[in-house]
Amino acid sequence: MKFFIDTANLDQIREAQDLGVLDGVTTNPSLMAKEGISGDENVFNHYRAICEIVDGDVSAEVIATDFEGMVKEGEYLASLHPQIVVKVPAIKDGIKAIKYFSDKGIRTNCTLIFSAGQALLAAKAGATYVSPFIGRLDDISTDGLNLINDIRLIYDNYAFETQILAASVRHTMHLLQCAEIGADVMTGPLSVILGLLKHPLTESGLAQFLADHAKANS
Ligand code: G3P
Repeated sequence: MKFFIDTANLDQIREAQDLGVLDGVTTNPSLMAKEGISGDENVFNHYRAICEIVDGDVSAEVIATDFEGMVKEGEYLASLHPQIVVKVPAIKDGIKAIKYFSDKGIRTNCTLIFSAGQALLAAKAGATYVSPFIGRLDDISTDGLNLINDIRLIYDNYAFETQILAASVRHTMHLLQCAEIGADVMTGPLSVILGLLKHPLTESGLAQFLADHAKANS
């Protein structure tokens, strides 16, 4: 399972990269705005900076919602750095744009996926990744993990190569259940990745080991 970090915060990206388990980064316009990044040139430079920190794929989202606009923007984003994956919303022109990018060898991440039908269309169009937002489904009392299950089944039935990138991951149980289902990738905040480490028996066990060592060596 690949671990992506879902942030545009360079310090958090560096911290996850230093841990040695980071496979990529996802961003979106809200995450860029949260870091105070605005203006085309600043946004493009920020993507370049992220690519310099990590080795893996970095999703950069188009703002346009029409086919021509998405193509123009996506081609430019892809030209910024070989690690850039163009993030395109799951709308009609988005599916057309994904097909266009796929035919040209430009990798894509189809975002804002909330149904198996959207994921099927995106895979048919040749998306590299689909991003089902599981946390946002949970927010409206709909089990987001069921969607991951449904997409896994459909993709396996037909051997689609599109990778399931579980997004809007909010806590460690989301991550672990996505791993059980077989999501190819999860993207979440640094706190979720570090949260996997937390166990009181590890903490108390280590404290005991260190105390016994200190006593024996005093
Ligand atoms: O990867 C998608 C993500 O950024 C959305 O997360 O927590 O805003 O639903 P959230």
